[in-house]
Amino acid sequence: MTYKRFTFFGGKGGTGKTTSSSAYALHLARSGVRTLAVSTDPAHSLADAFGKKIGSSIVKLEDNLWAIEIDAGLEAQKYMEGVKEQMRRIVSPAIVAELEKQLRVAYVSPGAEESAIFDCFVDLMEKAGSDYDAIVFDTAPTGHTLRLLTLPEVLGVWMEHLLEKRNKAMDMMKMAAHYERDLQEKIKNDPVLSLLSRRRERFQRARDLLTDQDLTTFHFVLNAEKLAVLETERAVESMKEFHIDVGPLIVNRVLPPETGPFFANRRRQQAGYLEQIRAEFGKYGVVEVPMLDSDIEGIAELEKVAPMLAVLDKEN
Ligand SMILES: Nc1ncnc2c1ncn2[C@@H]1O[C@H](COP(=O)(O)OP(=O)(O)O)[C@@H](O)[C@H]1O
Ligand SMILES: [Mg+2]
Repeated sequence: MTYKRFTFFGGKGGTGKTTSSSAYALHLARSGVRTLAVSTDPAHSLADAFGKKIGSSIVKLEDNLWAIEIDAGLEAQKYMEGVKEQMRRIVSPAIVAELEKQLRVAYVSPGAEESAIFDCFVDLMEKAGSDYDAIVFDTAPTGHTLRLLTLPEVLGVWMEHLLEKRNKAMDMMKMAAHYERDLQEKIKNDPVLSLLSRRRERFQRARDLLTDQDLTTFHFVLNAEKLAVLETERAVESMKEFHIDVGPLIVNRVLPPETGPFFANRRRQQAGYLEQIRAEFGKYGVVEVPMLDSDIEGIAELEKVAPMLAVLDKEN
């Protein structure tokens, strides 16, 4: 089997992202792949899907299978505390307040929670390979996830700009500090510059992982409905714009013939949308998952869906 180290499942709310990601994680684990399921959706439901308690630290669900639901609020708080702590250690109290302000601007502007989730997410991605063979991400509805995944790109440019500004300011100070050795030392080890550049390197590393087609792939989950094609088209374009590999799409809740004559008309409609989806996205691969007769909650239920997603390994 050829699975990717990082597999993302995304799409509109309620389409089956959590179901698909947990079923796929279960499939990998049962194939002997050490797998971590990660939810980056603030509205977590991995615990419901697996029917087990999962929280903001990694728990083992069974052999080869672990899970975590990233707590955005908590991470944001930890994140700011961590940064402040670093600051306190390297600069005098008098300028801590000013630096804190700069840092809040530098790190948090595009959304404290997204930055924090992203940080947690980079940590996990960098840990993979040693602790886990694969990480499966259950993401938030499309817009949120796009912002999250494109954070390195967007913030990278912006941080470049901040670094430039800080460099200029330091150049001025260097001129002013021409005869003062103390000040010269301080300038050489400017904490703001070194934090910013470490941050930039981290983002660069994250981008390298996310855009590496051999490591990362993104599966859209959609239902065979009217607006699905249009919306998915846009989302796929955005992924490609940021050079993230798009893998086979998952069309979930396809009505099987057993649904009988009452659903005959709906089935015909779905067949039409499915045809459209295949025409539009066939080049990425399309996997159908039927509507089951009940919610998919608990490992026994996920076991029904897991084999249907085994094909994702082969099509990768
Ligand atoms: N193929 C399916 N058949 C029956 N129920 C499904 C199917 N896919 C998803 N569900 C149920 O629909 C609900 C929403 O699915 P979920 O995977 O949580 O969506 P999302 O994560 O995209 O919001 C859940 O209760 C889930 O058990
Ligand atoms: Mg979900």
